[in-house]
Amino acid sequence: MNDPHVRLRDITLADADLLEAWDTPAIRGEFNDFGLPPSPAPREAMAKGPLRNDHNGQLIVELVADGTPIGTVGWHQVVNGPVESIAWNIGITLIPEARGHGYGTEAQRLLAAYLFETTGVNRVEASTDVANGAEQRSLEKAGFRREGIMRGAQFRAGAYHDLVLYSRLRDDPA
Ligand SMILES: CC(C)(COP(=O)(O)OP(=O)(O)OC[C@H]1O[C@@H](n2cnc3c(N)ncnc32)[C@H](O)[C@@H]1OP(=O)(O)O)[C@@H](O)C(=O)NCCC(=O)NCCS
Repeated sequence: MNDPHVRLRDITLADADLLEAWDTPAIRGEFNDFGLPPSPAPREAMAKGPLRNDHNGQLIVELVADGTPIGTVGWHQVVNGPVESIAWNIGITLIPEARGHGYGTEAQRLLAAYLFETTGVNRVEASTDVANGAEQRSLEKAGFRREGIMRGAQFRAGAYHDLVLYSRLRDDPA
């Protein structure tokens, strides 16, 4: 693989203002905009340590070249049965000026690798709106396989939307 352009790092209290500045419809993008009011950054939790635990987590995506933060990745638990069946569902938002350079692909590949390395799951999944062509292509380039359509799975912008489900298994090629 070519030299990486992005890396993932823990969120610290110093990122609080940035996270709040990013919490707007224009930066979240239409597919991550659920019409919710902006929420304050969880400063108390951020002061205590990284924003990750056994159930979910969030990391900053930043440029390797100069450390500029360009977005976030997150994950939460999906329970499909006993403990061996727990999977992660991941999500990503890059700021508009960072989109379309391959960074989303790199970040999602890095996140899957991080989750397989640091936890015992067999499966990392992601879903996205059927109209979100950039995310579908980005997931495919990051080694995720398209599994099918989740009909009417997401209520957004006043209507139910179909989502496409993708996954990577631990033994899938990177
Ligand atoms: C979705 C997102 C993470 C993708 O990251 P990115 O860095 O922009 O994506 P990449 O540059 O790695 O790859 C995008 C690919 O999709 C392609 N693409 C872009 N728009 C497309 C469209 N409308 N239809 C099909 N393919 C599209 C690009 O050409 C590129 O493929 P290529 O390298 O083969 O040419 C980023 O655009 C983003 O944060 N968007 C807003 C938030 C969002 O939608 N998050 C996901 C919600 S589930």
